[in-house]
Amino acid sequence: MSDTILKAEGLTKEFRGFVAVKDVNLAIRRGSIHGLIGPNGAGKTTCFNLLTKFLIPTRGTITYDGRDITSLKPAEVARLGLVRSFQISAVFPHLTVLENVKLALQRQRGGSFDFWRSDSVLREYDTRARELLADVALTEYERVQAGQLPYGRKRALEIATTLALDPVMMLLDEPTAGMTHEDVDRIVALVKRVSAGRTVLLVEHNLKVVEGLCDEITVLARGEVLAQGNYATVSRNPDVQAAYLGTDPASVGAPTATGEAAHG
Ligand SMILES: Nc1ncnc2c1ncn2[C@@H]1O[C@H](COP(=O)(O)OP(=O)(O)O)[C@@H](O)[C@H]1O
Ligand SMILES: [Mg+2]
Repeated sequence: MSDTILKAEGLTKEFRGFVAVKDVNLAIRRGSIHGLIGPNGAGKTTCFNLLTKFLIPTRGTITYDGRDITSLKPAEVARLGLVRSFQISAVFPHLTVLENVKLALQRQRGGSFDFWRSDSVLREYDTRARELLADVALTEYERVQAGQLPYGRKRALEIATTLALDPVMMLLDEPTAGMTHEDVDRIVALVKRVSAGRTVLLVEHNLKVVEGLCDEITVLARGEVLAQGNYATVSRNPDVQAAYLGTDPASVGAPTATGEAAHG
């Protein structure tokens, strides 16, 4: 088994001549938390959509677990264990928190709704759903309708429904976007906890979020890889500092009080 779980080579995406992602090379180590960061407009979401197969690259290849997945569909890579949050795990606002997670578990195991399952199977979903809710600190909310949850807790529920699919590798696009500082801290702790035994790719605008969380960081700017390394290395890099300062001084240095309201 190779040390690299996900690899992108020469990944390029053009939108009618505009190059949003340009010749990106990326190697994500198995079991690591990898941050893909950069200022707004850097190409993070485009890159995320390429890696999760929601966009077709103009050029380049993507390899997952030694297998070329460049031409596979999102559902196909999800079956291989490469799952993005909010992909299959839509949250139903009128169902309770617990029901949402049970439904995600049911879809993972059975494929469709099945009202004829035995009591023991349903009880098994119950137990596993409660474990997942405990993992994301939502136990006390289990009877609340998902639509009534505070914003930060909703993101936590989305992570729980993603975990219900038991991903080998989980990809999250700005899980802390629009959150209060308190919620940001909680999500950071949560990602750390649920990353045990998996690989996580975290797309993030705010440098402070990836500090202490990510083992390895790739910095994008204007669609290209600007720097790569651990937090200490990339945060000291003058090109990285310039790229951030050029667009949004608040995102380097002191954490923002309200998190990142703007979602690029
Ligand atoms: N579907 C699209 N059509 C045209 N341009 C796009 C499209 N998606 C993204 N872009 C452009 O590509 C660049 C990178 O966008 P994006 O990947 O969303 O950046 P980030 O997530 O880092 O803020 C931006 O200039 C954006 O306007
Ligand atoms: Mg984005």
